[in-house]
Amino acid sequence: MYDFITGPLLWVVFAVFLGGLAYRVVWYVKGLSQPLDRVAYSSFPADGAKGAARSILFWLLPFGTHSWRTKPGFTAAFFGFHIGAVLVPLFLAGHAVLLKQRFGLPWPSLPQGLADVLTALALVSIVGIALRRISLPEVRIVTTWYDWLLLVIAAAPLFSGFIAVMHWGDYQFWLLAHILTAELLLVAIPFTKLYHVVGFFLSRAQIGMDYGIKRGGRKGRNMPW
Ligand code: HEM
Repeated sequence: MYDFITGPLLWVVFAVFLGGLAYRVVWYVKGLSQPLDRVAYSSFPADGAKGAARSILFWLLPFGTHSWRTKPGFTAAFFGFHIGAVLVPLFLAGHAVLLKQRFGLPWPSLPQGLADVLTALALVSIVGIALRRISLPEVRIVTTWYDWLLLVIAAAPLFSGFIAVMHWGDYQFWLLAHILTAELLLVAIPFTKLYHVVGFFLSRAQIGMDYGIKRGGRKGRNMPW
């Protein structure tokens, strides 16, 4: 079982994940309108790049935008979850060892204690995000089973990995659960709103370019639109 899910199945999962994301990126870029987007972006690439970088950077900074500052509780839970959800899988010492063993890749890793703290913080934060979906009426009415499913899919690899690392319960069981739930997450990303792992950068870049060029960015500087 272990050999299968860390061998052939893992390759299929990576192919679906990377192929699916590449397809969605190409689809997004192809979907840009010639008159509304492409003409402006290609006429003023420097203003566009500056606007895109600004928009992405400020949204990646905790409390960096007006929207992040208006909901401080959600913002704290959001960053508490996302910092662990992104950094721990990429830089966990256990994952770095696998990359070194299998592909000879030297890979940086987080100290184990810090990875444990970030994982615990991510789990507490996602419980906070879930409670917000229940307790705020304006969020509750727009929440469907699909949102709950994605919260579970996002939390499951962190939860099972944490239990395995802590050696609570049957280690083999939790290790297999961790690998399978991580593979489920990777396959789900291109097909669900979890695609925002790249979609966030695409849409923020586009909005940033819009503001950097058309919506005031080039005001008074030879802007025909
Ligand atoms: C660099 C990568 C990522 C970026 C920039 C990002 C950004 C975002 C943004 C902007 C939102 C919307 C917040 C809002 O409602 O205002 C969001 C929500 C969410 N993200 Fe990510 N994300 C990233 C990676 C991930 C990963 C790897 C996972 C899963 C492990 C994930 C799981 C989620 C979930 C479950 C939500 C919905 C929370 C809710 O139910 O309200 N994200 N993310």
